[in-house]
Amino acid sequence: MSRRPLVAGNWKMNGLEASLGEIGALIEKLGSAGLPNADIMVCPPATLMRAAAEKLVGSDIALGAQNCHAKASGAHTGDISAEMLGDAGATAVIVGHSERRADHGETDADVRAKAEAVWRAGLMAIICIGETEAQRRAGETLDVVGRQIQGSVPETANAGNTVIAYEPVCANGTGLTPTPEDVAEVHGFIRDILSKLLVNGEADKIRILYGGSVKPDNAAELMAVSNVDGALVGGASLKAADFYGIVSTYR
Ligand code: PGA
Repeated sequence: MSRRPLVAGNWKMNGLEASLGEIGALIEKLGSAGLPNADIMVCPPATLMRAAAEKLVGSDIALGAQNCHAKASGAHTGDISAEMLGDAGATAVIVGHSERRADHGETDADVRAKAEAVWRAGLMAIICIGETEAQRRAGETLDVVGRQIQGSVPETANAGNTVIAYEPVCANGTGLTPTPEDVAEVHGFIRDILSKLLVNGEADKIRILYGGSVKPDNAAELMAVSNVDGALVGGASLKAADFYGIVSTYR
């Protein structure tokens, strides 16, 4: 099964208007060096969404958002719906990032509801899962990841509306990455669980991204692991040169 890889940059709570220059630099780099054999996406903070969308017109880079509320509209001060993000130019929304789960107590049920909200708005959900360092040390990685998939991924997910991102929490923003063997074990396990959960052979088609301290110098090794269909990149997506270094793994 050949799956077209996706490399998505999650800017998290970083970036002011001046940072849009990095998007410009990325577009230029892709223009001069040629497009890689992968889909590319940037997920800036919501404040930059519309300006980023304008900058990306005519480019081959997609625009994603980092979170949404499960409802379409209503009395939810400070929240943003998937419909609003779509209106601002997003074609995808990250849901259930470990930082949302930890900082905002998001449960698997919340994440599932958000994924369904993303679909309702006609967008693609990037559903994040991953164990904490303590859970990994306790040998609970596969249990935790299995439970998160069962709870967060709706059974009607398909390769067109959903991407899974596996991000071990101890690798997020720390510079520490699991070994390729560890990543292979978890990604293979995720594929197996999805094949029990999803219908119509979608489990074989759905992309599973790896996330957690992906950098230009470790991207080739990580992206070569079986069942790794791209990356969700945090820190290294903030600089066009670094992000391009990762994206260009797919040549
Ligand atoms: P990182 O973040 O690449 O900075 O580790 C990845 C993520 O949390 O999405």
